[in-house]
Amino acid sequence: MRKPVIAGNWKMYKLLGEAVDTALTLKPLVANANHCEVVIAPVFTALKSVADRVEGSNIRVSAQNCSTEAKHGAQTGEVAADMLRDVGCSHVIVGHSERRQFYGETDATVNLKTKAVIQTGLTAIVCVGEKLSERESGNAESVVKTQLKGSLDGLTVADMERIIIAYEPVWAIGTGKTATPEQAQEMHGVIRRSLAESHGRDVAEATRVLYGGSVKPDNIRSLMDQPDVDGALVGGASLDAESFAQIVNYKV
Ligand code: 13P
Repeated sequence: MRKPVIAGNWKMYKLLGEAVDTALTLKPLVANANHCEVVIAPVFTALKSVADRVEGSNIRVSAQNCSTEAKHGAQTGEVAADMLRDVGCSHVIVGHSERRQFYGETDATVNLKTKAVIQTGLTAIVCVGEKLSERESGNAESVVKTQLKGSLDGLTVADMERIIIAYEPVWAIGTGKTATPEQAQEMHGVIRRSLAESHGRDVAEATRVLYGGSVKPDNIRSLMDQPDVDGALVGGASLDAESFAQIVNYKV
């Protein structure tokens, strides 16, 4: 059985005090959520304070990015994965479409980052997803498969225990336009079959595949009803503790 993961990506929102306040408000609201893993991803500058405040709770902390380099060195502006572990992170989001789109990340850089995360003993939330034009031209499936293959290239079966996939169709991010549960299920099925081809059936069955893109309290249930949807990566609706808690508690 795959334990669902509900993760909140706070993107470049919230000053330190706001991030800590949101985390503290969230803590009691999700304290009884044993049916899923709860992850929040604040900006770098809030990671340590948030991690300190949720320590001992069922909330895990994720970074939104890390360096391709695991080794410390002259890399101005970069943050290594073990530095994130050092401040209390257990997860790192890699290859988010906003990083692919605005910061030139390719499958090759996503692959290096993913390896850096795994080597450090953290879990990578690896994002894939097609653009609207790619869906409209009928290429969504091949785009996602290529991203997946490139991002996970060279990872062993053991490495895959530290991988969570997030399928985030770019056209659904921040647009209010969610993929229908059927569209999500279809692509999650494609992803699981692709994982079976690359790493075998057991890995495919064990890997959590999250959906992301305009997930809200009122659509989480129908998405989670799909057999291959193992959780959500939530943007906008995770910024408010109450609405994120409603998503986490979709089962209650
Ligand atoms: P929204 O939930 O705001 O559409 O964002 C999704 C996302 O990009 C999460 O990583």
